[in-house]
Amino acid sequence: MVHNFNAGPSILPKEVFEQAAAAVLNYNNTGLSILELGHRTSTFQAVMDEARALLKELMQLDDDHEVLFLHGGASTQFMQVPMNLLDEKDIAAYSDTGVWSSKAIKEAKLFGKPEVVCSGKENNYTSIPKDFAVPNDAKYFHITTNNTIYGSQWQKIPVTSNVMIADMSSDILSRSMDFNSFGLIYAGAQKNIGAAGVNIVVVNKNILGKIKRNIPTIMDYRNHIKEGSMLNTPPVFAVYVCMLTLRWLKALGGVTAIEKINNEKANLLYNEIDANPLFKGTIAAEDRSKMNVCFVMHNSDLEEPFLNFAKENGIIGIKGHRLSGGFRASLYNAMPLHSVQVLVEVMQEFARQHQ
Ligand SMILES: Cc1ncc(COP(=O)(O)O)c(C=O)c1O
Repeated sequence: MVHNFNAGPSILPKEVFEQAAAAVLNYNNTGLSILELGHRTSTFQAVMDEARALLKELMQLDDDHEVLFLHGGASTQFMQVPMNLLDEKDIAAYSDTGVWSSKAIKEAKLFGKPEVVCSGKENNYTSIPKDFAVPNDAKYFHITTNNTIYGSQWQKIPVTSNVMIADMSSDILSRSMDFNSFGLIYAGAQKNIGAAGVNIVVVNKNILGKIKRNIPTIMDYRNHIKEGSMLNTPPVFAVYVCMLTLRWLKALGGVTAIEKINNEKANLLYNEIDANPLFKGTIAAEDRSKMNVCFVMHNSDLEEPFLNFAKENGIIGIKGHRLSGGFRASLYNAMPLHSVQVLVEVMQEFARQHQ
């Protein structure tokens, strides 16, 4: 058996894989593949409607918040957000907590004046900044709730009077929070929600339409809202896989239920990292991510042998990102507790052999 700890695209529930595979051959006994369904058919409209409704329900969104399924990955949102919300002279506050935040800041410079109000850069992004102020006149405050590469996570969402914008690509729907308190949330689906190729955007419609810039049709959130995420051909299969994963999450008990499991998984692995004499964590304890667990070995010469030993035992995808080195085990929603137990046993066995 293979235990897939990849950071994304990543593991999805087995039943989602099975249902998606069946739908490629024969969607709901229509005799058609999901891949050949017209997006304007009532059959696909039902998929889009259900995916949207499930996300609204799981996030407990109010009527001001619209759910969109868009193309282009989370990286497109780095520019689409400022393009829709800033005029050239407008200030927007950004927190810089890792690679993805930095990329978002770079794109915002094309449309307004991003101000970095806090940064973890000086300590190599090993913690989440604590003391900072956000200027009142900033049109919004952007955070990356979970830093996929370094393995840090905002455990408490900062409270400011500004419109909050969040890149939740790697922890959306993994823990409870007041999703309505955000002006806009975006996330690539390929970690916690579905297949690569679709982006989830949750936007409070009241923050739109406040700028003077002309926005290209396909980039204007208002057009996508008006057309129900069907302004052009949506990524049909990717939306379908989202719908299946959202159904799975709902059946499991929703966000509060998965949060308990996610806490259990993360605690299990961090406890082992702290207890095992060969390993150490790389992130300040209070800022450790429950989605991407990063760690190294005290003796770096053992890292390659450990990686091979893990692979021999069915553990794949734990090599750390080239920027942070060591290991990264991604524990997204669909990762079973059992797989984390196997990883912990493999770490223990390796330690027994190398002491
Ligand atoms: C937090 C975060 N933001 C943005 C991205 C970029 O996503 P995409 O590849 O969908 O553009 C990633 C990808 O891993 C991510 O982890």
